[in-house]
Amino acid sequence: MDATTVTVTGAGGQIGYALLFRIASGAMLGPDRPVRLRLLEIPQGLRAAEGTALELQDCAFPLLRGVEITDDPRTAFDGANVAMLVGARARTAGVERADLLAANAGIFGPQGAALNEVAAADVRVVVVGNPANTNALIAAASAPDIPADRFGALTRLDHDRALAQLAAKLRVAPDRIRDVTIWGNHSATQFPDVAHATVGGRPVTEALAEALGGTDAAASWLDDEFIPRVAKRGAEIIAVRGSSSAASAANAAVAHVRDAVRGTGDRGWTSAALVSHGEYGVPEGLVCSFPVTSAGPVTSTGDGYRIVEGVPLDARGRARLQASVDELIAERDAVRALGVI
Ligand code: NAD
Ligand code: LMR
Repeated sequence: MDATTVTVTGAGGQIGYALLFRIASGAMLGPDRPVRLRLLEIPQGLRAAEGTALELQDCAFPLLRGVEITDDPRTAFDGANVAMLVGARARTAGVERADLLAANAGIFGPQGAALNEVAAADVRVVVVGNPANTNALIAAASAPDIPADRFGALTRLDHDRALAQLAAKLRVAPDRIRDVTIWGNHSATQFPDVAHATVGGRPVTEALAEALGGTDAAASWLDDEFIPRVAKRGAEIIAVRGSSSAASAANAAVAHVRDAVRGTGDRGWTSAALVSHGEYGVPEGLVCSFPVTSAGPVTSTGDGYRIVEGVPLDARGRARLQASVDELIAERDAVRALGVI
């Protein structure tokens, strides 16, 4: 079987260190798919990436067909089947993800243009670097020959955080819970929605009411604890750990690509930020998190994610989504004002 070329940017950083070994082990693309890794770094990051490559070699992964390291985006993306855009400036305490817009906008335009020129015809792109949704919008806008549906931004970490909070409250394993949705931006305005989620086949809202002593108590927990905890979990990690989430982000990035490429199967939907075609009233072209499924694997890299349509949102849910969409519009307008798109 031909090797799949996976390009990881920011490979010398924290997430890179937690991500590359998972990819090389087969955890992302499957136990029978050989992988060739291309690591993109800026000159100051090359040495760290080289060190990681030495360790990758020392793991003697049977599926790993080679590791190349470069600071040139065109070399890094040449023939890439999967591009994981991690490299960006991470935020520190007190900084909002949107504050990184100007610093990171200059990265994703040139990388999108390089992908457009040299990536494989079946390339799939996931943006992890923050602000992830708008960085994905910039990369997609800079790659006019690559179908916009191939670009996504990571909200799988938010999705998994939501599953974990619910599982802890309901004292069940996270995989018993299905059809949670993260709507909107990968930011504090996101809307983690459990209105259609089930646990062991019954509504999560019903199970929460039973566990917490009534529907009012369940509604209060969802509004006052669950939603803010999930939406602000990134800041909580930064405050406790001293730097932003890395292993959990890498785990979510692996899950995002794995499910896109190999399919979501019978596990219900997951969440990913995709380019809107107007679904749920989200303006066309914004990269917004939706409920998604993937039929994969049809081709070597699967069919990819499709937005699940027709999920009902009540008035409060719509208002929460709109608040996050308003933030995405503001980010897009800020990027336009910078002349990046
Ligand atoms: P880090 O600072 O440890 O590593 C970032 C790496 O990117 C560095 O090695 C740096 O040299 C490199 N880099 C910078 N500009 C680059 C460029 N133009 N090309 C290639 N490489 C470049 O940061 P990290 O902890 O690995 O986080 C990376 C990004 O991921 C940050 O933006 C962070 O906010 C974001 N993040 C997103 C999520 C999510 O769920 N979407 C979760 C966690 C972190
Ligand atoms: C996260 O959600 O952990 C990341 O986006 C890092 C951050 O800046 O919060």
